[in-house]
Amino acid sequence: MSEDRSLSAEQEVGRINVFFPILRSLGNHWAAARPWEGHTIALNLHLTPLTACLIRELSLGGGSFVLSAVNPRTTDSASVDLLRNLGFRVYTGGDMEDRHLQALSHRPDLVVDTGFDLFHSLLERDRGALGGVRAGVEITRNGVTRLRGSSVPFPIVNINDGRLKDKVENRHGVGEGIWAAVSMATGMHLAGRRVLVLGYGPVGRGLARYARAAGMAVEVCDTDPVRRLFAHYDGYPTPSLRDGLERARILVTATGRRDAVTLEHLAHARDGLVLVNAGHGGDEIDVAGIQRSAVNRDHVAAQVARYQLETGNTVTVLGDGHPLNIVLNSGSPEPVLLHFAVLGLALEWLASEPDLPAGEVAVTGDIENRAARFALEALNPSSG
Ligand SMILES: NC(=O)c1ccc[n+]([C@@H]2O[C@H](COP(=O)([O-])OP(=O)(O)OC[C@H]3O[C@@H](n4cnc5c(N)ncnc54)[C@H](O)[C@@H]3O)[C@@H](O)[C@H]2O)c1
Repeated sequence: MSEDRSLSAEQEVGRINVFFPILRSLGNHWAAARPWEGHTIALNLHLTPLTACLIRELSLGGGSFVLSAVNPRTTDSASVDLLRNLGFRVYTGGDMEDRHLQALSHRPDLVVDTGFDLFHSLLERDRGALGGVRAGVEITRNGVTRLRGSSVPFPIVNINDGRLKDKVENRHGVGEGIWAAVSMATGMHLAGRRVLVLGYGPVGRGLARYARAAGMAVEVCDTDPVRRLFAHYDGYPTPSLRDGLERARILVTATGRRDAVTLEHLAHARDGLVLVNAGHGGDEIDVAGIQRSAVNRDHVAAQVARYQLETGNTVTVLGDGHPLNIVLNSGSPEPVLLHFAVLGLALEWLASEPDLPAGEVAVTGDIENRAARFALEALNPSSG
């Protein structure tokens, strides 16, 4: 009988602490400093084994922690069980707003968000909780964009645009994790396959770089001419979406925009196109539109659905269009853990009650330097 090679949430946390113990070192630091004594912290996060690892170490610093799931499709039930067994309140049911209102009912004074949805619920739906919130942290590009279009009466630290996130997680973590996930889901060997990368921000750039390293033929589309030019000088052809789709075997989206790929676009796609999303939400590819108009649906394997379109061509959607590296918890956990270290250190700074203006606050150089030192120590103990 073959051995089950998937790791339980508990085993994943154990593995992290052997090969990249950044959060364990921080946990030791927080256990000594007790920075959140008297604080209640609400976090809206993808609930994965990495999140369980984060919350366990954060909680060593005192305070109380309550969680809501960003996306049911990226929620790992074993990690939720682990967190609940450790005594945390974790809200995963109902619609997104239900989960937020449940988390906010604990009256947090510090709030962490992934995509600005929890902040939005706080501003629009729970003014009672609003008065008690002193500060927050936003961890994603989409969330920062929404923050900039909102009026918020407390400071929110943007940890997406520091020196570390786009250079390590967006560029290296997602690129590596997505291709590992595609191989895992489909069994395809990637060398020689032609991929079209849609969106050439840090995430798209990492996707292209890791695809090329895997021997794929890579083309890039971006609506921003400057980003297209960057792609060109990085060595990738930059066709129109329509031309690229006629050739691509795989299309991967990293735009952060709804409906970047619609049925209309797919009318020009090559038969057998595989669709993958690496962006934040589940709506960059219009999967609902594909499902509505498909004449046939074939469940190929877990997270792999093939649709026959009215044109006669088939498209295969992985992970129902949700970010596949998170859905399958694939790739090295290190970049996410580094981002979580920045998140924890930003929270520690906020708990010390610095005098900050309302609205967006840039993550400080000191926070990132400390996170980088913890990372270097975890990579190479005693390197200093
Ligand atoms: N899957 C993950 O683990 C993970 C991790 C980090 C970030 N993200 C998400 O990935 C997305 C991209 O992140 P980023 O930092 O590269 O963002 P970014 O905003 O810097 O880059 C997005 C790029 O997409 C381009 N674009 C927008 N609409 C387009 C369209 N319709 N067609 C072609 N190009 C289009 C933009 O011009 C831009 O260059 C965000 O949604 C972010 O939240 C996902």
